[in-house]
Amino acid sequence: INGYSAATAPIFLPNQIGGYMPAKPGVPGERRHGDQQGADAMQTALAKGYIVASPGARGRTEANGRAPAAIVDLKAAVRYLKANDAKMAGDARKIISNGTSAGGALSALLGTSGNAREYAPYLRALGAANATDDIFAVSAYCPITNLEHADAAYEWQFNGVNDYEKIDISMLDYRVQRKTVRGTQTAEQIRLSDGLKNLFPAYVNSLKLKNAQGVPMTLDNNGNGSFKAQIETMLAQSAQKALDEGKDLSGQTWLTIENGKVKAADFSAYAKFVGRQKTAPAFDGVDLSTGENNLFGDAQTQAKHFTAFGAQNSTVQGAQTADAATIRIMNAMNFIRRGGTQHYRIRVGENDRDTSLAISQLLALKLQAHGKNVDYALPWGVGHSGDYDLDELFAWMKDVSTR
Ligand code: DHB
Repeated sequence: INGYSAATAPIFLPNQIGGYMPAKPGVPGERRHGDQQGADAMQTALAKGYIVASPGARGRTEANGRAPAAIVDLKAAVRYLKANDAKMAGDARKIISNGTSAGGALSALLGTSGNAREYAPYLRALGAANATDDIFAVSAYCPITNLEHADAAYEWQFNGVNDYEKIDISMLDYRVQRKTVRGTQTAEQIRLSDGLKNLFPAYVNSLKLKNAQGVPMTLDNNGNGSFKAQIETMLAQSAQKALDEGKDLSGQTWLTIENGKVKAADFSAYAKFVGRQKTAPAFDGVDLSTGENNLFGDAQTQAKHFTAFGAQNSTVQGAQTADAATIRIMNAMNFIRRGGTQHYRIRVGENDRDTSLAISQLLALKLQAHGKNVDYALPWGVGHSGDYDLDELFAWMKDVSTR
């Protein structure tokens, strides 16, 4: 099928992780989002001649599911496929991972951290097969990664936008539930937002990244500069594609459109337009109430901080901070190097407010800086979701796996 035999077919490895919650192995046809039309990613992969392996993983609400359990479980699945490659259909040298949101972050991490020795003790303890765990390619939708810097990035984007529309994530029957709650940031949350926003330029500048045109990606103390312009360019490209497809963008007040051409996208006006979804700090909650606080807990401690800012501003008596090594091995940014997984496809909906657009932009830029083949775009009108462009995803998979 599709030019592949049982021996040569790449292995599609979609995880089902959402909200850093526990995930069951995937079953083709059992959709994560009930309102989706047509075939899901696993059915599409099977129809196109791929082998599908969709591992389950432990998650943050389980005593043994805190960081780094989920990435250890995905790596163990990769090792199993590799150790048994000769006995099973599919080419385990061509594993293509896929995931959305927390699952997108783990998909990216699976790619960048292939064979990293930091995970070896966990894999040994789990009884993982004795094999390598590097993979061939990564597909990541709206990755909730770089949690060390996601709070600062969020406030760089949304500082000054104080009305919010929060989504509370819970879980029912292994299905992630989302409920909307509206409000306005308190004076204290605004103070935290100001403090976090001020941390972001130094972080961006420390990465010393350049865009594809060789322009250094920087921000000044006010948060303005070429890095912001880079995201504006990405947003303008997304809008132009939508215009070319005949969509009506006349209500998008943050865009300047002349004669069917997008002349400018204003990032600050964009942030106001799409609106804030999380209160400051978005990820490392000062009251230890976020899903990410829970992710960095352990069997004895329900939730912990994972940033210095969160710990310094903690409102919880005796709050703990997760150990640096555990925080480090959950972040795809920390393992990008020459070699390893070469192909990355990253998609973040233009409307996504779950994390700052800066997070995926920095991931894409850092991957490019290390010679990776990166396909990064912000599809127009899309929110926090994944698997919405399967034709394009599978065309990309075919392309990279036949190079
Ligand atoms: C997910 C969404 C979030 O906003 C977040 O902080 C973590 C995970 C998710 O949908 O997986």
